[in-house]
This record gives sequence, C-alpha cells and structure tokens, in this order.
Amino acid sequence: MEESKDLFLRDRQAEDAQEQGLRPQYFKEYIGQEEMKANLFVFIQSARRRGQVLDHVLLHGPPGLGKTTLAGIIAKEMGASMRATAGPVIERQADLAAILTSLEPHQVLFIDEIHRMNRAIEEVLYSAMEDFTLDILIGQGPSARTLKLDLPHFTLVGATTRTGLLSTPLRERFGIPLHFDFYLPEELQQIIVRSAGILKVEVYEEAALEIGRRCRGTPRIANRLLKRCRDFADFKAGGVITLEIVQETLSRLGIDSLGLDKQDRRILEHMIEHHGGGPVGLSTIAASVSEETDTIEDVIEPYLLQQGLLQRTPRGRVVSQKARQHLQGPAEPKPDQLEIL
Ligand SMILES: Nc1ncnc2c1ncn2[C@@H]1O[C@H](COP(=O)(O)OP(=O)(O)OP(=O)(O)O)[C@@H](O)[C@H]1O
Ligand SMILES: [Mg+2]
Repeated sequence: MEESKDLFLRDRQAEDAQEQGLRPQYFKEYIGQEEMKANLFVFIQSARRRGQVLDHVLLHGPPGLGKTTLAGIIAKEMGASMRATAGPVIERQADLAAILTSLEPHQVLFIDEIHRMNRAIEEVLYSAMEDFTLDILIGQGPSARTLKLDLPHFTLVGATTRTGLLSTPLRERFGIPLHFDFYLPEELQQIIVRSAGILKVEVYEEAALEIGRRCRGTPRIANRLLKRCRDFADFKAGGVITLEIVQETLSRLGIDSLGLDKQDRRILEHMIEHHGGGPVGLSTIAASVSEETDTIEDVIEPYLLQQGLLQRTPRGRVVSQKARQHLQGPAEPKPDQLEIL
C-alpha cells in the first residue's frame, strides 16, 4: 500500500510538472466546455457577491479533459487558495479530519480521484460538506461520546473519472455536478495554438487542426502530440510545424486518421477476429489484450464509445459497422487497376 501510494504520488507529480506551464489559470484561458464555464461563472459571481463559499463541485469525465485545471481556476476565480489531495492518499479518517480542521475559511479543497477514497473515510465528509461540522468520537464503549467541531466554510471540489463508483450519499452532497465532454477539433486547435505560443514554437493553423482531429478529443493528448511534432519539426523543417510534419509525426507514432492508437486498434481488431465483433465481456477483452479492466473502462473505451466505434449492450461490447469500415481502410486498388493508372 505504502509503495503504491508513493508511486501514485510520484506519477502525479511528474505529470503535473510537465503540464504546469501549459495549464490555464483563469476562465478566459480555458478553451471549450462553454456551457459548463458559463454556468460556473454565474455561480461563482453570485457566491462572491453574497460573500459565501461556492457550493461543492463534482468534476466528472475521462482523463486529460481539464478537471484538475478547472479546480485551480475555480479557486482563483473565487479569490481563494486551493489545497489539493487525492482519494488514494487519504488512508485513515484522522488524515481527512486533520485536513478539514486545518482549512482556511473559504479555501477550496480539491480531492482528485475521489472515487478511490475508502467508504469509511468518505463518511467523515458527509457532515463536513453539509453543515461544515466534524463529528469526533471520544472514548470507547458505553462512555464514548461524540463531539461536534465547527469547521471553516470551504468548497470541496471532487474529481472522478467515473461517478458510478461514488456512493450515492457522497454524490448527492455535491450541489454542482459537472460532466466533461470530449473537445471538438476546432477547440483543440485553439488549445494547441495557445500551447504552441507558450512553448514558443510556430504551428500552422491547418497543422494545429490536424492534431486537434487526431488527439482523441483530449487536451492532454493534444499537448503531448504538439511536443512530439515539435521534435520532428526541429529535426526536419526548421522548427515550423506544418501539416506534413503533423502527418508524418502521427503516422510514425501509429496514430491513425481518427486519432486511434495501436492499443485502440488492437482491441477492436481482436474483438472482430476472435469474437466476430461481439458482444464481448469487458473482462474477456481486458485479458486478451493484457490491459486492466479499469484502464479500458476509464481511459480507452469512452472515446471509442463517443466516436460510435464501440457500442455497449447488456451482453457486452460490440464493434460497430463504422469501426469495421475504418479498420479496413480505403480499399486497396486491384493489380489491373494499377496498370491503368
Ligand atoms: N479547456 C482547456 N483549455 C486549455 N488547456 C486545457 C484545457 N483542459 C485541459 N487542458 C490542458 O490539458 C492538460 C490536462 O488537463 P488536466 O490535468 O486538468 O486533466 P484532468 O481531467 O485533471 O485529467 P486526469 O483525470 O488524468 O487527472 C492541462 O495541463 C492543460 O494544459
Ligand atoms: Mg487531474
């Protein structure tokens, strides 16, 4: 447990350090998710005007869509500081109690991967979220009594890749649940142009749009691909990211026209070849491509479902006609046709 906790923290820190410079700080830099942003803006302004804390916010959606980023923006726009922790690193009720009692008034408490918090620990949050109190049990047996401790008013921002794993009592205590959708290619294009500006690399509009079309609707992947394109551009094209550079980089990375990577295609191909396209159970898919079921469900599958390449049925996952056509690719010209050409 200790080791996995350390690994978890190390991964997160490495990821954060890499992304830090590109992370938007204010609403005006945060591209896309327009409806969510507009509503949040109203809630924040109203809370500020009343001098109250913002209601608790639950951010829900696939990895890399901007949940952690938005938590930071919420704190900034509220004029408050943020304290960040994560579900897997809170091991005992006392850990959470210590965090809650040391919050400053109006601070934002961000709990990442809140679905990975233990249920018993989660219970501490109920009264804290509802009426900013903490029930502490003193003593044991018949003489035990509870002490109610007042907490400073705070806003809890929870992030999760899957709300289904959150207990109902916890989920219902969030006044503002927000769901993240994948970004549109044009929005990702803007994100890429913004990131390129920060990284001081020149990227053509159509090149940015091509990355935007092929990054699984995900800003984190867009930024990662931009950096790889920069490597190729530095190496080949005098540092400018052109459409050709993007096409070459992505094809070398094994990313196809829909943005699917090798693992996405492996899963779909395996389902077609060995299971006639489905329905196939999630655990069968996971075992056959040596992947964790959680990874398939949280990271890989959401984009395939959104793109209509995979369908979910009560009996398992089914590969769609669109996916079959995509995997077959454009028909190879027949030899005699080649001669005519
Ligand atoms: N709306 C946006 N506009 C511009 N850049 C964005 C936006 N959303 C995300 N990004 C970029 O994508 C990166 C990843 O976002 P973030 O870390 O907030 O994702 P996340 O949803 O918290 O992912 P995870 O579930 O893995 O924690 C950020 O560093 C940021 O640079
Ligand atoms: Mg995050």
